[in-house]
Amino acid sequence: MPAYSASAPGKIILFGEHAVVYGQPAIAAPVLQVRAKAIANADPRGSPGTVRLRAIDLGLETTLADLPVDHPLAAVLWKAAAAMQLSHIPACSIQVSSNIPIAGGMGSSAAVSVAILRAFSALVGQPLSDEQVSQLAYEVEVIHHGIPSGIDNSVITYAKPVYFIKGKPIETLQVKRPFTLVIGDTGIQSPTANVVNDVRQAWEKASDQVEDVFKHIGAIAAAAREAIEQGSAEALGPLMEENQALLRELGVSSSELEGLVEAAHSAGAPGAKLSGAGRGGNMIALATPENAEEIARALRDAGAVRTIITEIRTP
Ligand code: PMV
Repeated sequence: MPAYSASAPGKIILFGEHAVVYGQPAIAAPVLQVRAKAIANADPRGSPGTVRLRAIDLGLETTLADLPVDHPLAAVLWKAAAAMQLSHIPACSIQVSSNIPIAGGMGSSAAVSVAILRAFSALVGQPLSDEQVSQLAYEVEVIHHGIPSGIDNSVITYAKPVYFIKGKPIETLQVKRPFTLVIGDTGIQSPTANVVNDVRQAWEKASDQVEDVFKHIGAIAAAAREAIEQGSAEALGPLMEENQALLRELGVSSSELEGLVEAAHSAGAPGAKLSGAGRGGNMIALATPENAEEIARALRDAGAVRTIITEIRTP
């Protein structure tokens, strides 16, 4: 019996987090150095319908039937079974592992869903299309945090830099000249749902003012797209600074994120900002192949628990 394995990358948001939930454009890119992986094996001796699940990083070993239906790992399998119109689920085991930081703004939940959807549908013999995978992963994200924009499942399914507007077909970003980013992890877990809810409350209280911030962030994302497509990465530094100032205004930064942003500046980064929901999780700094190591070292010295040097390019 062959094993069916699939993996999906992590991601960062370069521009536009939070505002993207309210219809503004955002830019995200896959981070191939971190991945979630799922391995599905048929279990010929298992009783029909029994799916054994093992999520190594969560310390979880259980069966599908023993998980609440809205548990994200169960939901993804039930949704896959429904999409494939399975009359019964074959006895199998699914093992999930990931080195994407959990609740760190790098899309760990969407990547786990995408990997499971691909491995499980391959085992069943009905591989789901990218469009189906992205849609089902989105539906699971709804369970995680209520009102996701859909950017995480999109960039992770297609594993390409994207320009994303909620509810519109995703556009691949044509990166004219690849550029380097350093990612710094505060090591602080910050569930997206909490931060997104706080932003919603601020928006409900002062919608005109917060809406203006969202529009400004959207304009930055649009300008960044142009710069990326024209190969002028140097224009991104000031845009990252401007975006970070607006995220600060929205109340989603933190002293730890600010400390890392400051450290990146001191090491020569022309721009740095938080990436993802904020409050904790990861930040990104614009770098060059020459100074990336130095910036990464400065981030670790300032408290980053992990740094990743990554290149943004259209595959
Ligand atoms: O899942 P995270 O932490 O990368 O955050 C996603 C970005 C948000 O804009 C804050 C939420 C969303 O659904 O787009």
